[in-house]
Amino acid sequence: MRGNGVYPENSEKIPVIIDCDPGHDDAIALMLAFGCRRLDVLGITTVAGNTTGENAYRNALAILSLISADVSVARGADSPILRPLHTSRDVHGESGLDGLSVPPNAKGGDLSAVEFLSSTLRRSETKITLVPTGPLTNIAIAFLAFPDIKEKIERVVLMGGVAGQGNVTPSAEFNIFADPEAARVVFQSGVPITMIGLDATHKALVYPEEVEEIRKIGRVGALAAGLLDFYSLAYKARGFKGTPIHDALAVAAVFDEGVVKTEYARVDVEIRGEFTAGRTVVDFRGVTGKEPNAKVAVDVDRDRFLNLLMSAISVL
Ligand code: RIB
Ligand code: CA
Repeated sequence: MRGNGVYPENSEKIPVIIDCDPGHDDAIALMLAFGCRRLDVLGITTVAGNTTGENAYRNALAILSLISADVSVARGADSPILRPLHTSRDVHGESGLDGLSVPPNAKGGDLSAVEFLSSTLRRSETKITLVPTGPLTNIAIAFLAFPDIKEKIERVVLMGGVAGQGNVTPSAEFNIFADPEAARVVFQSGVPITMIGLDATHKALVYPEEVEEIRKIGRVGALAAGLLDFYSLAYKARGFKGTPIHDALAVAAVFDEGVVKTEYARVDVEIRGEFTAGRTVVDFRGVTGKEPNAKVAVDVDRDRFLNLLMSAISVL
């Protein structure tokens, strides 16, 4: 079985806050985050995206209780900054985690996502890495409301965007499409960004025989495979031979930068285009003359990613 590697326990844990919209791949990203033993997960904030804000919060609590992760969870925005909520129920189902019977609601924290982000960052003596895996609504609001917190951020490693073909429109990837105004705020914030977009995640497909390997990795492996059983249906219907666990690749890139190949480029977010709203316009060649503002993932070591994931699941 792959994934019998053990992470070096002596490596310094990276302090992170994960902002997510679970969502099947968000759920598996949380398994990786807690199983890899390389991250100090200070908290989870949730945001509407794949599903409603209420479902995302409930789903995050459920997944965290199923993997026995004891961490603060703060509920965030129920809609994008300016636009109506556009969920992806065609991929994640009505509940946002269809295919999983969600256990009764565990209790979350009392703070809102923006309050949690600002208070945790202000209080921290070390810089924190933010890992958004949904629309960037919470992050943008926090940056606008509390600009001082930006200096407490090591970097933002986000799942979102694409230099090539989109997945919601030909131009746009879902997380950016869902709240392009928020994405523009984040990409223009000056905070170091690593963009893990479809250019990389669509090359990190997990194939059916590998799902069966995952299913055999104990209780959490069976849980992850059950999520993938449902989540893969939408990709099969779109002609994919495997399933992209987009958000888990962003988490992996936090503690194992070599899992992706990145290029430093200028990224601007289109908010007006009739056909292109939500497009991350990536200037690899510097033709705009603008300062680069993001490391953009252009390739992935798929086997390395899968090993990281299976190793993490095996210790939960
Ligand atoms: O485009 C893929 C992204 O949109 C992933 O984060 C998935 O969970 C959805 O939010
Ligand atoms: Ca997501």
